[in-house]
Formats: sequence, structure tokens, C-alpha cells
Amino acid sequence: MSTLKGKLMQVGQNEGAREEARVKVTVVGVGQVGMACAFSILQSGIADDVTLMDVMEDKLKGEVLDLQHGSLFLKTSKIRAAKDYSDTAESKLIVITAGVRQRQGESRLALVKRNVEVFKHIIPALAKHSPSALILVVSNPVDILSYVTWKLSGFPQERVIGSGTNLDSARFRFLMGEKLQIHPSSVHGYIIGEHGDSSVPVWSGANVAGVNLQTLISELGADQGSDNWAEVHQAVIKSAYEVIKLKGYTSWAIGLSVSSLVQALLKNLHTVHPVSTLVKGMHGIEGEVFLSLPCVLGWSGVCGVLNLPLKEAETKGLQQSAHVLRDILKDLNL
Ligand SMILES: NC(=O)c1ccc[n+]([C@@H]2O[C@H](COP(=O)([O-])OP(=O)(O)OC[C@H]3O[C@@H](n4cnc5c(N)ncnc54)[C@H](O)[C@@H]3O)[C@@H](O)[C@H]2O)c1
Repeated sequence: MSTLKGKLMQVGQNEGAREEARVKVTVVGVGQVGMACAFSILQSGIADDVTLMDVMEDKLKGEVLDLQHGSLFLKTSKIRAAKDYSDTAESKLIVITAGVRQRQGESRLALVKRNVEVFKHIIPALAKHSPSALILVVSNPVDILSYVTWKLSGFPQERVIGSGTNLDSARFRFLMGEKLQIHPSSVHGYIIGEHGDSSVPVWSGANVAGVNLQTLISELGADQGSDNWAEVHQAVIKSAYEVIKLKGYTSWAIGLSVSSLVQALLKNLHTVHPVSTLVKGMHGIEGEVFLSLPCVLGWSGVCGVLNLPLKEAETKGLQQSAHVLRDILKDLNL
């Protein structure tokens, strides 16, 4: 009774007994991308515990303190720094942004070996402490590292998800919307395949309010097509390179897109998002490879993968994407 708290209130008998977080999200890596993800997740109010982890201790402490000082404006009761992997225990969802960043002009695939080494260190430890978690991989090259995470974690395929072309598709819809002067939420279209240079725009499905755009211009997206719509996909591919050239890294759009995936998963929304998943057996792809197709997301992770009716050129593009990724996976000896 002598403490100020004791004098201020009658402390409930079960105080402490229900302290465990129900929705704990761990973000690994507090670089530009990890912090943008953490900030967007906090803004969404979806988690009651956001735990951050990084090998750079002072940076981690500083970022967590800075966020904690904003607690008044947030609806997340615990924001904390993990000292070791045991502090990430019982996470419902783990967002992986750790790793080395793409340098100016460097392809995502060139990052692979450096980041695989980082993953060999972190994934088994995270999986051990949160054996029922969903893992959302953001680090690049995201399709390769999603596959690596699946192998290293031993988790079922539906619980390992790569952010994949979710961001590419958002850029696609933004750029199409700019051309049509319509908000991206009303312009529908998917980029599938690799999150990177071999990604495939599904022009055959692009639509506004159910109006299929290829029924209006049959050559939409073809190189020689009218109005130069092919440049939209080129601009999507160049987007990350352009932003990195201008500001050194990308952050806000990936943070927002990851937060929308986290909400779909943790709220069991069953919304459809183009994310990286194991696609063996689909669209004539035989080998084990992760790449993006529209997926239904919910509690259990990937609840379904849509059977897209693709045109021949689009299927070939997807198979080419799978080929590019398989070639890299072959050398990893996992
Ligand atoms: N999937 C996408 O759409 C997308 C978009 C943008 C960036 N990315 C990728 O996200 C990743 C992070 O980018 P960034 O700009 O934040 O890089 P960054 O260099 O700013 O941050 C990376 C962080 O990872 C940490 N880290 C390294 N090894 C670690 C380990 N073993 N355990 C814990 N933390 C560790 C580093 O200390 C650093 O803080 C990169 O791979 C980048 O290419 C992906």
C-alpha cells in the first residue's frame, strides 16, 4: 500500500495474470524498411505488442525509445526491443526486413548470397521461439529469401509469405491511375512473378469497375501499343532504382503495403493480395519456387492461390520468372 500506485488505486487481484499479449508482431531489422513497416503497423492499431529486433543495439534502443515516446498517440500497449530471440517468443507474426540493402544500380538478385547468410543466423532462432507464427519476408531478393525462410524454418508453406509483388502492383495501380486520373483503389491490375526485373504485368485482367481495359484497346501493354501503356510496366520495374537513386532507399510505400498484408493476415480478412508463395504445379511450373500470384490471406497465412486465366505470353513470362529464380536457388545448396 506504500507505493504511489497502491495509494492511487485498488490493484485488481488478477493483475499480471493476463499480461501476455494476444497479438504480438515482431519486426526484425530496424533499418529504413523495418521502421516504416513498424510505424505503419503501429498506426493501424492491429497489434497489442510490437517487438523490434536488430543487431545494432544503440540504433534499436533509439528507435524503440522514439516510438515509445509516441505511445500517447498510439493504441499499442507494448513497444519493446528484443535483447535476444527469446524476447520474440510467441509472436503471431514476424516481419523480416533484416539484411543488406540494394546499392544504387545493384539488382535485387545480386544481394542474394549476403542475405542468405543473415537468414541462416536468424530464421531457425525465430522459428524455435515462435513455432506457430506466420513469417512475412520483406528483405530482398524477396522470392529467394521466402524460399530460404520456408526451408530454414521447417514451417508449412502457407505460413511463409513473401511481400512479393504487392508493392509492384500498388505502383502499377498508381501509375495506371495517374494516366486515367482515377484513384489507385478503383484501378485493378496485378503484377505477378518475381519482385524484380522479370515481373509480369497481367494486362489481360486490368480493369476499372469491371470494365476490362483490353476490350477497349486490344494491344494494351504491348510495346508498340497506342498511348504507350507499356511504359507503365517499365516504370514499375524502374521504381525502386529511381527512388534509391534519389533518396538512397525506399521505405514509405513498402511500409504501407506490408501493414496492409499484416492486417489481412491478423484480422483473417480473406482479401486477395499478390504475394510470394510456393507455386509448384501452377501455370506449368514444375520446380519448387516462390513467386507472386494473387493469394487469399487470413489467419492461417495463404488460404488459397487464385487460378488466373492468363494469356499465353503472360504464362510464358511467369515461367521465365520461375526459371530466373530456380537458377539462383540451384546454387544455394540449402
Ligand atoms: N520486398 C520489397 O518490396 C522491399 C522494398 C524495399 C526494400 N526491401 C528490402 O528490405 C531490406 C531492408 O532494407 P533497408 O533499407 O531497411 O536496409 P537497412 O540497411 O536500412 O536495414 C537493414 C537492417 O537489418 C539489420 N540486420 C542485419 N543483420 C541482422 C541480423 N542478423 N539480425 C537482425 N538485424 C539485422 C541491420 O542492422 C539494419 O538495421 C533490404 O533487403 C531491401 O532490399 C524490400
